[in-house]
Amino acid sequence: MVRADLVVAGCRELVTCAGPVPKRGSDLRDVSPVENGWIASRGGRIVFVGGEDAFRREVAPDADAVRIDGSGLVGLPGFVDSHTHLPFAGDRSGEFSLRLQGWTYQELAARGMGIRTTVRATRAASAAELEAACLERLDRMLLRGTTTAEAKSGYGLNLADELKQLEAISAAGRRHPVTLVPTFMGAHEVPEEYRTNKEGYIDLLIHEILPAVRHQGLARFFDVFCEEGVFSVEESERLVQAARGAGLGIKVHADEFAPLGGAELAVKAGAVSAEHLIAVTDEGIRALAGSPTAAILLPGVSFFLRQDKRAPARSLIDAGAAVALATDLNPGSSMIESMPFILQLGVFTLKMNVEEAVNAVTANGAYAIREDGKVGRLEPGLAMDVALFDLPNYLSLAYRMGDRQAVHVLKNGRRVVTDGRLSYSA
Ligand code: NIG
Ligand code: FE
Repeated sequence: MVRADLVVAGCRELVTCAGPVPKRGSDLRDVSPVENGWIASRGGRIVFVGGEDAFRREVAPDADAVRIDGSGLVGLPGFVDSHTHLPFAGDRSGEFSLRLQGWTYQELAARGMGIRTTVRATRAASAAELEAACLERLDRMLLRGTTTAEAKSGYGLNLADELKQLEAISAAGRRHPVTLVPTFMGAHEVPEEYRTNKEGYIDLLIHEILPAVRHQGLARFFDVFCEEGVFSVEESERLVQAARGAGLGIKVHADEFAPLGGAELAVKAGAVSAEHLIAVTDEGIRALAGSPTAAILLPGVSFFLRQDKRAPARSLIDAGAAVALATDLNPGSSMIESMPFILQLGVFTLKMNVEEAVNAVTANGAYAIREDGKVGRLEPGLAMDVALFDLPNYLSLAYRMGDRQAVHVLKNGRRVVTDGRLSYSA
């Protein structure tokens, strides 16, 4: 008998997403659901997942074990949002309105708006304001079932403000139940003061900011916006090499708008992921197929920018790429905090089926930030991170369209959302 201090009893469906990760090809269509599923944990880790009979045979709950009634609920691994630009200040609703009048995202950027608008606001914000903004967003994400999120800097673009963003991520991560995985993205844009001296900024990144980030241990990953008008493939490659030298894992914003070959660069550089891929080429798809580099698709961007062009999810899956879905939460191209909504966009706009989308926001999301040894599936040994939804079945995560909040969320075996309300103490 295994002992347990927490039991969720009799879920209508427990979607475990169990099995080897990353999930590729037809494996992505298997979410290993258990009907009338029971799950138990001890010390924040899962010790049992299965049906009632096996539970009674194998699990001995402590006398004071917490028991949650799962009847009528569908339980899933807490969502892993593998791509966010969480620590930003300000608001771009004015520029959103310009876009609705016909300006493109790139036209705004070319006129000093876009990312640079948010850089001005983020530089002006205090560390405490930035941390508070992160915490508010994390609360809304948690209510929608996200229990782990990657978070990128990249709106500071100088030493002090990049560190301020990374410190805000670290401070928010200490106070909030959502696990944060920090990424240094100083190579998100060329700041105003280096507009005519991009080489000078690349130098600053490599010789000053990167060493400071490394010294302070504030980031796990490095990310670069490899894009027309931002960093070329050659520039990205130099930056990536320096980041590798500084001991950071690599992520690449690749082929978001222009097909520069960012996906190929990511694979060649041994990046953990290539992200966006709206404009990925056939060679890029071939490079990603079967490679360890995950393909993180962000369907919020095409949707939010009202573009018909979308990442070729079907081709990537059929080719064997390790596809994940994430929000890309940011104020310009995807002001979306909700993973249930992203799952729906995966289904409705990228033509994924529900099982593929479920695995892409859980097991493969965890793989995409190399957290799959801890989260993303409901399997013994992994964290008791569970989101429970009031739905008749998991298909209804997509079928019942619209934003959706969880009834209960467990993080490391703690009740952090209870009856639809935040229930953690900071
Ligand atoms: O992932 N592509 C670059 N970065 C973000 C957009 C950031 C912004 O517009 O503020 C993205 O789409
Ligand atoms: Fe992004």
